[in-house]
Amino acid sequence: METPKKSYEIGKVHTEQKRYDLAIAEFKKIIEAEGNNEQAHFELGRAYYLQKEFALAIKAFQKVLNLNSGNHHAHLLLAKSYQNIGAHDLARDEFKKVSEYPAADYDTHVELSELFKSAKMYDLAIKEYEKLLTYGSDHNRFADLLQLYNFNGDYTKVKNLVPDLLENNCYADIFWKNMLLNELEIAEKRVFLQSKPRILLVTLSNRCNLNCPMCGKGNSVWEISQHTIEQIISLFPYLELLTWQGGEVFLVERFKDLFEKTFSFTYLKQIIITNALLITEEWADRLASRHNIGLTISIDSVDKKIYEQIRRGGSFDNLVKNLKMLNKARNKHSSNMTLSLRATIMKSNFDQLEKFIEFARDYQFDVVQLAPLSSDGYDPQNIFVNKDIEILRSISQATPKIRELAKKYKIKLLDWIPVLDGSNSYTEKSEAVFIENKPVESKKPVCFRPWKQIAMNVKGDIFPECLCSESIGDAFHNTFEDVWNNEKMQIYRKKLPEYEFTDWCNSDCISGIIPPEHLKFTFV
Ligand SMILES: C[S@@+](CC[C@H](N)C(=O)[O-])C[C@H]1O[C@@H](n2cnc3c(N)ncnc32)[C@H](O)[C@@H]1O
Ligand code: SF4
Repeated sequence: METPKKSYEIGKVHTEQKRYDLAIAEFKKIIEAEGNNEQAHFELGRAYYLQKEFALAIKAFQKVLNLNSGNHHAHLLLAKSYQNIGAHDLARDEFKKVSEYPAADYDTHVELSELFKSAKMYDLAIKEYEKLLTYGSDHNRFADLLQLYNFNGDYTKVKNLVPDLLENNCYADIFWKNMLLNELEIAEKRVFLQSKPRILLVTLSNRCNLNCPMCGKGNSVWEISQHTIEQIISLFPYLELLTWQGGEVFLVERFKDLFEKTFSFTYLKQIIITNALLITEEWADRLASRHNIGLTISIDSVDKKIYEQIRRGGSFDNLVKNLKMLNKARNKHSSNMTLSLRATIMKSNFDQLEKFIEFARDYQFDVVQLAPLSSDGYDPQNIFVNKDIEILRSISQATPKIRELAKKYKIKLLDWIPVLDGSNSYTEKSEAVFIENKPVESKKPVCFRPWKQIAMNVKGDIFPECLCSESIGDAFHNTFEDVWNNEKMQIYRKKLPEYEFTDWCNSDCISGIIPPEHLKFTFV
């Protein structure tokens, strides 16, 4: 029989080479010989963790911590194991212990900063980012920290930090310089901005291969002007996020050329909103071979008959064929593309919420986005405006189940379906209630989009964000440059910090149904 030292080394090689069963057998041998061998228990736990046997991993890490309560690597993996089985409170306690551990190293702080941020524990995330800064300047992490300060309302910290950096030209690249200036202008609540937009939602045309009954694209065809296209290209160096939509972008001939022109902008993330029915093999390959692409595919039903009623002119079989083709291209390129399923919820599909999540799992979607139907005038499909109590009750009953399913399949769920008002408050969306109950001071301003974004809808109207009610211009009379600091945009920037909305802002943004993260961060 090998010595414990030898078994330990063999076990670690098995773990490295993903032969977890063999690794586990080696570590168990050591534990049989030396019951209190801390390293062997730790490596056993790590092998179980990597094998996704989280309950067994938890037992092993608890044993490690009985032997040595100061093993912060064990606290960290124990926390992550708890997180994986959905025991979020236990996970938070463990994360806090790691964060208080004085000798935690750089990689641990990186991991913690990201974990705290994704768990929405922003105060703790800020502390971790601040610790990371002591290791030297990292542009990405510094940008995250500034965004977190502004998100938390710590405007003074941004105002103290940024001017010196700008003056000393520490961030010479125009992308980073613009980001710093923009965060400073948000903190100062400027109404006229020197910084350029960081997020664009561009509608190239309303031309489409489909004719969905709820769509506001209208019948007369329009195309974005060449002048606006040139302005958009001139903004590429400043952009963090660029979303393309139509109509249907894959019907627009110049889209290929525009997409190719984005190639050299390494900080830029792009999202394409599409019905996916015109994606060719060539496009699938092009998309999957690029970095930082998100494809948002509108699938309003997973039932063929209803899909073809809503997505009028579309074929469900083609959709499925194209999803398979996209996933093949994603696998071929080991792509980091994010695939999102978007469903517009209405009377015909409200009963498919669980099925959307199952479908998303079957076709390897990363995100499911549920958005309410919006309508101009009376629309029998609009269960939200019509306050169809029975249907809304059934949605609220389905909500815990779909959240659980999404968690189980590791699908991010962006659920923007509104809750009913107080008189019918049988339903609860904890995030929205939490925001509602916060004092007004701490909510101001509820949204930073007018400082960061220009968005164009399918009618050609331009807004700070498509959720807004009052347009700041339109694609037929205005360019992006015209609207960025025009009178209406300045009114948005003046009213939001005063918590004065009239009817320009969407009530779902003010109530918290649209999470503040969406309205303030660039990426959710
Ligand atoms: C106008 S479409 C353009 C992109 C593409 N043709 C598509 O269908 O994904 C953009 C998004 O708006 C959604 N949409 C269309 N009409 C809507 C409505 N009345 N209310 C809410 N969302 C709507 C679509 O389902 C799609 O996700
Ligand atoms: S929702 Fe999208 S696919 Fe449907 S008609 Fe409108 S633009 Fe076309």
